[in-house]
Amino acid sequence: MTGIPASLRLPRKPTGTARQGLGATGRRDEWALAPGAQATLFTICATYLFVSGILLTPLLGTPYEVDGYLSPLFSPLLRPEWLPTWISPGLFILWVPLGFRATCYYYRKAYYRFYFADPPGCAVGEPSIHRRYAMETRFPFILQNLHRLFLYLAFIPLFFLWVDAASSVVQLGHLRLGLGVGILFVNAFLLTGYSLSCHSLRHVVGGRLDCFSCSRRTRVRYSLWQRLTSLNLHHMAWAWASLIVVTAADVYVRLVAIGAIADPAIRF
Ligand code: FES
Repeated sequence: MTGIPASLRLPRKPTGTARQGLGATGRRDEWALAPGAQATLFTICATYLFVSGILLTPLLGTPYEVDGYLSPLFSPLLRPEWLPTWISPGLFILWVPLGFRATCYYYRKAYYRFYFADPPGCAVGEPSIHRRYAMETRFPFILQNLHRLFLYLAFIPLFFLWVDAASSVVQLGHLRLGLGVGILFVNAFLLTGYSLSCHSLRHVVGGRLDCFSCSRRTRVRYSLWQRLTSLNLHHMAWAWASLIVVTAADVYVRLVAIGAIADPAIRF
């Protein structure tokens, strides 16, 4: 590394106690199963959501709303008249949930493992290329620090998802209890659980306090922090469940919209 200014040198990663070399480990369990399954699921959902949110409608004209159901990828629907048909309205919205998920602490752990093998698992050796690296101290991964900003922004589309679910109950002056209504409500519920269980939100509410019981305000914050902590314990489950259901919700609305399936519903 001689000749390279110290400020540009990548820090050396501590070797730790794991064996050296990609995949080297003393573990005897099937440690690769979980990251393998997660990589498959994540790649399928992320690819589908990108294609559906950005490309599908401009390229094939596939509708994303039907009979009072709006795909969650397009909510709130921003479709100004000047918008050319080759640009998806999803572009105005998707960067928020995408940025929120991409910078999520849990997903970072997961995709650092399955995409970058950094490390592939606990006590499992990683590639030698990782001996020197900057990770989240330099571009592009320093952008992970925007997570809290994305958290605040994520509550905007979340609010509209509840509005969409509630308004889908009424269609053409009739009350409707349909499968689509249920899917939209479950989707809003799971995304709410995912957002409220966020590590960053937990810190916003209960962090940087020296005393929980010193005033009424801090006691309220402590109480809220306890509730968020009980959700936060299951953040991984919220993350996967909400990702699967938001994908399924978009698939469902699209299939109903093109007439491939009917929406079973009771109207009264
Ligand atoms: Fe996962 Fe904030 S840590 S959404």
